Amino acid sequence: MNSYNIAIIPGDGVGNEISREALKILKAVADKYGFGIKTETYEWGCDYYLKNGKMNPDNMLDILRKFDAIFLGCIGDANKVPDYISLMLLLEIRYGFEQYVNLRPIKLFPGVDSLIKTATPDTVDLVVIRENSEGEYSRAGGFFKLGTPDAFALQTGIFTRKGCERVMRYSFDLARKRKKFGDKDQVGMVTNCTKSNALNYSMVFWDSVYDDVAKNYPDIKTDKALVDATTMWMIKKPDFFDVIVASNLFGDIITDLGSMLQGGMGFAAGGNINPEKKYPSMFEPIHGSAPKYTGKEIVNPIASIESIRMMLEHLGENEAAADIYNAISSTLSSRKIKTADMGGKHKTFEMGDKIKEAILTE
Ligand code: IPM
Ligand code: MN
Repeated sequence: MNSYNIAIIPGDGVGNEISREALKILKAVADKYGFGIKTETYEWGCDYYLKNGKMNPDNMLDILRKFDAIFLGCIGDANKVPDYISLMLLLEIRYGFEQYVNLRPIKLFPGVDSLIKTATPDTVDLVVIRENSEGEYSRAGGFFKLGTPDAFALQTGIFTRKGCERVMRYSFDLARKRKKFGDKDQVGMVTNCTKSNALNYSMVFWDSVYDDVAKNYPDIKTDKALVDATTMWMIKKPDFFDVIVASNLFGDIITDLGSMLQGGMGFAAGGNINPEKKYPSMFEPIHGSAPKYTGKEIVNPIASIESIRMMLEHLGENEAAADIYNAISSTLSSRKIKTADMGGKHKTFEMGDKIKEAILTE
């Protein structure tokens, strides 16, 4: 019997309630498909900071290293710890475990209404691959001449050949697997989301690596869009896209936009992937911790449940993953249960229970 050790970091705000629902579904499919799940929960985050002066223990990566995967709820509560400090927990794991791919599928489930007119289950099926280990998030820079009229800040993006190349290869490989277009000669497309008109070093370099990598994939269409235009096209013609590869910051921004195509942040899931499986990968909803809703049971747990589905796909439990997908799909298609973000009154745990019921009965 396959068995997996999963680390759970519920985090801050609504982290507890969404992690509980995620775990509920993970356990349900493990029982149904006969694989073992052992979990360990770590209460790291802003409350830990208030007690210990840091977000997590110094040996966090050593603790997490032995797990097969990590589930992260959500991190941050600006009333307790400034965001630029609390985010280090997340970045330390992404960087420390070389999770250089941030995989963010954007799909609209039947039964969910997006505010965007062009978004239907038929038109919204794309994936953003966000570079997750360098770029604008490199934290290189400094404050200078502070306290003088000449004060300034400098923040430098770091784009390495290795860093750009590996995430682009992953994107082309994914397009090859997805076969979204299914044409005879060109089965998919990777859009290079760039800004090389204005960023004359970093993004010109990024483009050149994209062009080099693309040469190895004659079966995949190339496409290039400036990030500002990408946001416009994602709304105007979402079905145009297959895989979009973007730098750390651009990928961050366009996936919040993407969430609106999928019906809101309550549906947007992501995986921080170490493709070589040298280290554990980490799965998380991409929404924030919404501290004001803590304990109110009003947030939508689907983004978290989707993250569990992605985790199971990563672990190779494809049947269980597909089952979760179908259970979410049938639950939403019925339009009988809606959390507040969907204009309904159902509670976080009721949505989780319904999806679990679909897993057990279908
Ligand atoms: C995300 C989040 C994080 C990011 C924050 C919390 C640091 O917005 O995962 O998209 O910017 O990467
Ligand atoms: Mn974000």
